[in-house]
Amino acid sequence: MESLHAQRKNEHLIIAEKTYQQTHQHHPFDEIQLIPRALPEIWYPEVNPAPDQLDFNFTWPFYIEAMTGGSQRSMGINNRLATVAHETGLAMATGSMSIIFNDEGAKPSFEIIREANPDGFIMANLGATATPLQAKQAVDLIQANALEIHVNVAQELAMRPTEGDRDFRWLDNLAAIKEAVNVPVIVKEVGFGMQVADLDLLHSIGINYVNISGRGGTNFATIEAERNRDRNYSNAFLNWGLTTPQALIEAKLRQAKSQHIIASGGVNSAADVVKAGSLGADAVGVAGHFLHTLFEHDQQTLQVEITQWQQELLDLMTLLGVKKFSDLQHAAAIYHGELKDYWEQRQ
Ligand code: FNR
Repeated sequence: MESLHAQRKNEHLIIAEKTYQQTHQHHPFDEIQLIPRALPEIWYPEVNPAPDQLDFNFTWPFYIEAMTGGSQRSMGINNRLATVAHETGLAMATGSMSIIFNDEGAKPSFEIIREANPDGFIMANLGATATPLQAKQAVDLIQANALEIHVNVAQELAMRPTEGDRDFRWLDNLAAIKEAVNVPVIVKEVGFGMQVADLDLLHSIGINYVNISGRGGTNFATIEAERNRDRNYSNAFLNWGLTTPQALIEAKLRQAKSQHIIASGGVNSAADVVKAGSLGADAVGVAGHFLHTLFEHDQQTLQVEITQWQQELLDLMTLLGVKKFSDLQHAAAIYHGELKDYWEQRQ
């Protein structure tokens, strides 16, 4: 019998997939239109998609974002995701590792990620209440190259008070974690987005990497509502948050342009990766969509899909006349609908 914590991990996997169609009906990236070049003046081999503004050793600008670990089921999934990451040269983040601090038996489900991908770029993941010592232990367990700390107020509030946190005074602890570990610390949302005040606050405590993870894909309000069916959630709560393109517009307003911005949330294609890059993302994480491919098909199909994205990324950069990923920010684009309104009002 697995612990309640491990059972929650399994429920997240199952419900993320069960709600995939429902949460992916509206696709915010559709409101971005990239304007192609008929004369790109590019020789195809010159195109280099590596994220040149991020000082991480990534070959590709997109990676497998934080999802799971801690249960038997999640160990199999991590093994498959990590093997695909290894085969395709993608970086990968683990799901939250906090379970290892009260369940020794949970460790192998994370260790397998390093075993399957010995030389890959791997990010450990913990919540904002982890102690600095725990942060070091999580990094050491898998020889992580970076550490993601997730901030997930809406998700915690969607959980029952007995299960979710209610103390959201996290800033001092984030600063302490950053001091304690000797790898880059990325503070990330889990699908509700971040606004510019958060980015500036994080910069004020020395956080130079932020994943604004926005709405448009996996929705943890919906997932938790599905887990707690006897509770009432308003539509306003279920639709809470900034979409990923909106959060990237927020990032354009940040004071310190040296702060690296990673995007995730509703990225379902190579075109979305390029669009996120055009809005200033230095790299792009993909969680729910890759999980969906794995669940609906298999490991081989996921590997083929990622290889296709890699090819298409080169094609799209060529079509836009862009040789390096950060130059996507200068590619011409227009915004439609809600995103256009958002852009105009935030100027
Ligand atoms: C997640 N996500 C997540 N994030 C995190 O920082 N720690 C975690 O443990 C998890 N767990 C988790 C489980 C499952 C099943 C999914 C699908 C997602 C959130 C994830 O990293 C990402 O921020 C959001 O899912 C938005 O991206 P997508 O899914 O729309 O690509």
